[in-house]
Amino acid sequence: MVQGVCHCEQRTDGDLNGEGPLPGLNGNKLSAGPPGGPAMRGYLVAIFLSAVFLYYVLHCILWGTNVYWVPPVEMKRRNKIQPCLSKPAFASLLRFHQFHPFLCAADFKNIASFYGSDKFDLPYGIRTSAEHFRLALSKLQSCDLFDEFDNVPCKKCVVVGNGGVLKNKTLGEKIDSYDVIIRMNNGPVLGHEEEVGRRTTFRLFYPESVFSDPSHNDPNTTAILTAFKPLDLKWLWELLTGGTINTNGFWKKPALNLIYKPYQIRVLDPFIIRTAAYEWLHFPKVFPKDQRPKHPTTGIIAITLAFHICHEVHLAGFKYNFSDLNSPLHYYGNATMSLMNKNAYHNLTAEQLFLKDITEKNFVINLTQD
Ligand SMILES: *[C@@H]1O[C@H](CO)[C@@H](O)[C@H](O)[C@H]1NC(C)=O
Ligand SMILES: *[C@@H]1O[C@H](CO)[C@@H](O)[C@H](O)[C@H]1NC(C)=O
Ligand SMILES: *[C@@H]1O[C@H](CO)[C@@H](O)[C@H](O)[C@H]1NC(C)=O
Ligand SMILES: *[C@@H]1O[C@H](CO)[C@@H](O)[C@H](O)[C@H]1NC(C)=O
Ligand SMILES: *[C@@H]1O[C@H](CO)[C@@H](O)[C@H](O)[C@H]1NC(C)=O
Ligand SMILES: *[C@@H]1O[C@H](CO)[C@@H](O)[C@H](O)[C@H]1NC(C)=O
Repeated sequence: MVQGVCHCEQRTDGDLNGEGPLPGLNGNKLSAGPPGGPAMRGYLVAIFLSAVFLYYVLHCILWGTNVYWVPPVEMKRRNKIQPCLSKPAFASLLRFHQFHPFLCAADFKNIASFYGSDKFDLPYGIRTSAEHFRLALSKLQSCDLFDEFDNVPCKKCVVVGNGGVLKNKTLGEKIDSYDVIIRMNNGPVLGHEEEVGRRTTFRLFYPESVFSDPSHNDPNTTAILTAFKPLDLKWLWELLTGGTINTNGFWKKPALNLIYKPYQIRVLDPFIIRTAAYEWLHFPKVFPKDQRPKHPTTGIIAITLAFHICHEVHLAGFKYNFSDLNSPLHYYGNATMSLMNKNAYHNLTAEQLFLKDITEKNFVINLTQD
């Protein structure tokens, strides 16, 4: 039972798959006791072993998030890749350096209990929605991180925000030169190649923000669902099984078709969003009754993902001009800053503070710095 809850051995080798028994518990010393004064000795040994056992259980509970514990999965499930040996600048922010960010149908429940995601409901855990996760994941074809032909061990990544600051800039070529390009929601590449480039490695989305026009699909893109409510997983499952979508319960009409193929789709581990919300943006776990709970924007979630899978992270398009409500909100479309200002779901103050902090510490390089 303890083994299922936590993996107590502190491993220093590269073997991430073995599940050795707890040290001190495998030899049954009780039955091998000497014949003289057996009762007393037996009790002492039993007490000693119980103490050792208790110590390990407590150790597990107290240090369940200790960095020395190598997580039970490799970052990449199927393909072998050389690990990056140099330390990223932002390493101090990370609790796990080999975190696999996508849920896999086969072991998502074990992974959830290992990282504590079974203690939170959606949006930051799986507690009451495990069945929704299971159904959606059962329709996906892969939970791999990078393409099987990919062999760059230390990855240079750029996270492309959708900010109006990218308008009329010619960063496209620069952005396309990165190993990994992370984009979000319906920030288009089509028609904006000069401003934002052509390639997309990962695109984070949710049902209300995903493209529905197939011309936006790039077969080389992996599309990552960030689930906030059980309905988001039901939506994915229904689209993948050809069912009809009931649009009730979404805050905006969700896409009614899926432009991505099952092999392109992943489900983000809620641990990533939880880390962003509680550790990096310092959101409270419980908001006052008269306040809507705040959640990280997709941009901050994308940066959190990047920190977990990249060696170097650069940003483009992360800038709001709050002093001009008529300035463009995005590099596409006609929305203005006035729309963002009304937003009750996010705490942009906390996000700006976080962005300022990681920029000042040189954890990221800001490409849209004029
Ligand atoms: C971008 O360029 C177009 C055409 O040159 C211009 O009309 C527009 O005002 C510019 N937008 C920004 C945000 O600078
Ligand atoms: C997808 O990747 C392949 C192989 O790298 C490349 O030849 C192709 O042009 C890419 N397609 C798009 C739409 O970027
Ligand atoms: C924000 O918009 C105002 C008004 O258009 C402009 O004067 C200011 O320079 C802008 N600030 C930034 C940081 O772009
Ligand atoms: C933005 O505004 C222009 C001019 O007013 C209009 O032609 C265009 O259709 C609008 N675009 C969108 C996405 O609403
Ligand atoms: C937003 O975050 C800032 C900085 O952490 C905090 O001071 C403020 O109270 C938060 N506002 C809301 C409405 O949660
Ligand atoms: C990037 O630089 C611009 C211009 O200096 C600044 O307004 C913006 O806040 C910066 N973005 C980040 C994420 O630091």
